[in-house]
Amino acid sequence: GAPVKVDIGRLEAGQRVVEEWRGQPIWVVRRTENMLDTLPQLDEKLRDPASEVDQQPDYARNEWRSIKKEYLVLVGTCTHLGCSPLFEEQPTVELEFGGFFCPCHGSKFDFAGRVYKGVPAPTNLVVPPHSYLSEAVVIVG
Ligand code: FES
Repeated sequence: GAPVKVDIGRLEAGQRVVEEWRGQPIWVVRRTENMLDTLPQLDEKLRDPASEVDQQPDYARNEWRSIKKEYLVLVGTCTHLGCSPLFEEQPTVELEFGGFFCPCHGSKFDFAGRVYKGVPAPTNLVVPPHSYLSEAVVIVG
């Protein structure tokens, strides 16, 4: 499929925009400082905290799994059996720090798309190839 442009110009902190690329949902989340602050606290609870299993391009191989710290770009498909996880901006019963929760079989991911231990999803959510055309436009693909 052709690359897709995602307009993030009006995305406010804490919000997510959803697009489609190659028949898959693509999420861009503008993370708040609070969301970012949760990430370093979670390593012990995660299966692959440093994202050593190749689920992102090299330029997103860092502690935020993104090019720009503020913006997370993900394929919004659970790595278990492909359901679309819910975006939980606030803490919930399942996710005390918030993140993404898959309603199909209970997989949990943090605000970098990193999978928790003890859930069915085997790997972190996928960061698709992407780049910035401008401050307001991300190109996925
Ligand atoms: Fe997400 Fe099974 S498809 S937990």
